[in-house]
Formats: sequence, C-alpha cells, structure tokens
Amino acid sequence: MTTLAHNATDSIDRMPDLHFQLMSAAFRIRDRIRPPERQFTRIGVREGMTIVDYGCGPGSCTEKASGFVGANGTVYAVDVHEPAVESISRRAREEGLVNVIPVLAKGYCSGLPDAAADLVYALDMFHMVDDPKVLLAELQRVTKPDGTPILDNGHQSREKTRRVLREAGLWAIEEVSREYLRCRPL
Ligand SMILES: C[S@@+](CC[C@H](N)C(=O)[O-])C[C@H]1O[C@@H](n2cnc3c(N)ncnc32)[C@H](O)[C@@H]1O
Repeated sequence: MTTLAHNATDSIDRMPDLHFQLMSAAFRIRDRIRPPERQFTRIGVREGMTIVDYGCGPGSCTEKASGFVGANGTVYAVDVHEPAVESISRRAREEGLVNVIPVLAKGYCSGLPDAAADLVYALDMFHMVDDPKVLLAELQRVTKPDGTPILDNGHQSREKTRRVLREAGLWAIEEVSREYLRCRPL
C-alpha cells in the first residue's frame, strides 16, 4: 500500500492528538447507531468508481467505501492530521483494503492529480475549515468535470453551508437531503 505525501506548504491548524482519539471513540459509537454505508447507495457510490474521502478521520467511511467500489475501484483517504492517515493506513493493511490509498494533505492541498475522482465526499468536516473557498477549489480540482462533489454540514448549520457554497460560486446544488448536499461543478 502506498501513502501519498507531497511538498505543499502546511498552513492550517490540526486538532490535538487527544481530540482525535476522543473523536475516534465517539465515531465507533456513531457508526453503530448510524452505519456510514447507509448513505452510500443514495449518494451514488458504485463499483469501479474512484472516490475521494476528504477529511477521512479515523476512516470508517473509507473502509465502507472500499467495499462498495470493489477491486476495480479506488478510495483516496485524505486528511491533514497524521494520526488519521496512520489510522486508516493501519486499518487498510490489517483488513487487506488494497484499493485504499491514504493521503496526507498539506494545508488545503491534497496533492492528488487533477480530475482524479468520480465522486468526492467531505463528510462531517466542513465545520473545521477556516477557508472553505480554498477547500472547495481543491475538491473541485480533484473531481472529474462530470464528477460529483458531496458535502454535509458537519457541525455547522445548513444555512451556513449554503451561504459558503453560494459565495464560493464553484458548485451548484443538485440535490438536498437531510444528511447531505449533492453538488455539480459549475
Ligand atoms: C469530524 S472528522 C470526520 C471524519 C470522517 N469524515 C467521518 O465522518 O467519519 C473531520 C476530519 O477532517 C479533517 N480535516 C479538517 N480540515 C481538513 C482539511 N483542510 N483537509 C483535510 N482534512 C481535514 C480532520 O483532521 C478530521 O480528521
């Protein structure tokens, strides 16, 4: 398994490691109550796709996406936090998830190739982003022109998510559900 890292400047604050450990424990409970794979069919994750799990955290969504896209697909698991990338690297190794490529982002740069992905999702992470316009531009860059960006609010209001999207002017909203916004690059 390869882990992608690159030389972009690292210019954003990451959460403390203790915070990450507590979050990982909380997610284990969350995932039992609301398994992440439940929404994958609805958001359009399919066999053979290349997916980017942006802000993958401890990797519960990555692991499920890996099973959905199968042997002919790829899941890039991107995070700025080293313990998150270590965690998903370990899970991928232990569970034989050969289609998962962990990626350590630097600042708002993932280092992924342009137009790499059929579908990019950023789940429960948008509230942690200080400069959403730059992040959205990076998500747009790595999405194929006919690809799909999926965003959920994380812990911010839907109203704020909509406002940020409007101000960035990069994506149109195609579908609104309680959990997420399915977008289309403009
Ligand atoms: C609340 S966790 C959610 C993890 C995962 N998406 C889930 O729902 O299980 C948010 C993650 O986003 C990451 N993150 C925050 N800002 C980021 C950025 N600019 N680029 C990449 N990852 C980021 C954090 O390090 C953290 O691991």
